This record gives sequence, structure tokens and C-alpha cells, in this order.
Amino acid sequence: MINADTKICCLIGNPVEHSLSPLIHNAGYQALGINYAYVSFRVSDIKRAIEGIRGLGIRGASVTIPHKVSAIKYIDKIDPPAGEIGAVNTIVNDDGVLTGYNTDDDGALKALEEVTTLGGKKAVLIGSGGAASAIAVGLKAKGVKLVVLNRTEDKAIKLAEKVNAEGFGSLKKLSEISSADILINTTPVGMLPKTGRSITPKDLLHNRLTVFDIVYNPKDTRLLIEARERGCAVVYGYKMLLYQAARQFELFTGLKAPLAAMESALTQALKGGRDATHFDRR
Ligand code: ATR
Repeated sequence: MINADTKICCLIGNPVEHSLSPLIHNAGYQALGINYAYVSFRVSDIKRAIEGIRGLGIRGASVTIPHKVSAIKYIDKIDPPAGEIGAVNTIVNDDGVLTGYNTDDDGALKALEEVTTLGGKKAVLIGSGGAASAIAVGLKAKGVKLVVLNRTEDKAIKLAEKVNAEGFGSLKKLSEISSADILINTTPVGMLPKTGRSITPKDLLHNRLTVFDIVYNPKDTRLLIEARERGCAVVYGYKMLLYQAARQFELFTGLKAPLAAMESALTQALKGGRDATHFDRR
């Protein structure tokens, strides 16, 4: 029941229409029976949106494309890993003091660590955008040897320099996968509606590899299907979506996230073929 005591959390981004975040967070509030509600705001002016968070006493916000970098200018404090990543996907309002966090790195690491250990492993990371940056910072902190590959080589070089990666290059260097333990796709390639695509040729996949595709719609991307056929362990993109939301939930409420209820709402929506896009990842 929404009433005068309801604490409001929200998503700010553009577009937000197809985001699964309201579904995941509200499923969590319902499971715990707490007086919270989560809504979406399509926002073009991030400065005024953040003033609105202060003015209305909104408890917390998830921040998505295109505001994850620009939001930093308007908050009061930043959690150090988010500062290193250079982007926030979460804002928590403690009595008017706004702190920015990034839960993408933790979400990705938790999803990966369910399937493999990380320390000392070699990972090939494909892509150099916002998600790649968060994952790269997280992997380096875990002692992973990292090779960053991207369609636009300059961006791979920049990200590799930023995180002190062991290697970088264009997509011509995909043969690096043959000596890798972990392969991560952070690009939208393979996402609905163009599901038949994968950047990595199937014959480069080998059975010592763990393959993580952050695309979650469809759950089984071409990359993950081919990885399984080649005997690789696989990590589903929806797990990262779930775990980054669960950490946000804990930051917003101070309570342990009810993962089973949140996961069930998410997987049911994905099964129902909800039209979620890469840009509405959270
Ligand atoms: P996000 O914040 O979701 O990571 P992003 O910052 O727009 O999104 O980054 C998207 C990444 O996917 C980029 O590395 C992009 O490569 P470029 O730097 O060359 O643009 C990569 N990408 C997008 N479409 C791609 C495609 N069709 N083939 C290969 N890489 C692609």
C-alpha cells in the first residue's frame, strides 16, 4: 500500500521505458513487505533530476545511460571504486547527502565467481564502453590478467591504460582467447532483435574457458550457445543484472536483498519475451 510513509526509489535514464529495474526492485520490496516503491523517470536534464532527488527526499536512484558519468558532477560524495570506474549507476540519499556508487563491477564479479575463481586468471574483455570499464576495474582488483579488445582500438588503449591491463588491441587480436581462461562480451552484439550474431568465432572457444556474455535478452545468446557446445562454462548476463540490482536494493533499504523473489520476477519477464534492450540494462 502506497501511503505518506512510502519511501521512493527510482530509475533515471533515457530511455527507460523497457527497463526491468522497476520489476526487480518492486518484487524485492513485496517479498520483504517493506513500504518502498520504485518508479522510472525518463530524464533529459540530469542536474535538475538530481535536484529533484534532494527536493523530494527520494531515497535512492539507479542511474543509467546516458547519465552515469555526468551524474558525478551533481552528487556530494563518491564511493572510491565508482570514482575509479568514472561512472555511477546508483545514488543514495542520506538526509540530503547524495553518495554515488557503482554496483556493475560487483554484480559482474559475483556472477563470474559463481562459476570460476578469478585470481591469477587471464581474461579477454571485448568492448570498451561503460560496462567494460566497470568490469575491468573489478577484474584488476581481483588480480586478473586482462586483455582489452575493441572494435575501435583507441578506446581499448584508453581503457587498458586506465586499469593497467596486460594487453589491448582491435578485434583482430581475438586469437588471444586461445590462451585465456575467461572471455567476457560487454558489447550489445547478440542482443534482440539481432540474435544470430557473435563477435567471437566458434572455433576460438575451448573447453578451459569460462564465457560471460553481459547481454541478457535473449538469455541464451549465440555466444553462450556456441560456448556450451564447445564445452565452456557459461555465465548468463541476467545474473549481472540481478546482482547489481540486489546491491542497490541493499544500499537503498539497508536490508538483505531477497534474491530468489527478485530473480524469479526477472526470469519470468525474460521468458515472457519482454522487450528489454541493451540500453535499458538496469
Ligand atoms: P555500455 O555502457 O553498455 O558498455 P557503450 O558505452 O555504448 O555501452 O559501449 C558499447 C561497446 O560495444 C563499445 O565498446 C562498442 O565498440 P566501439 O567503441 O567501437 O563503438 C561496442 N560495440 C557496439 N556495437 C558493436 C558491434 N556491432 N561490433 C563490435 N563492437 C560493438
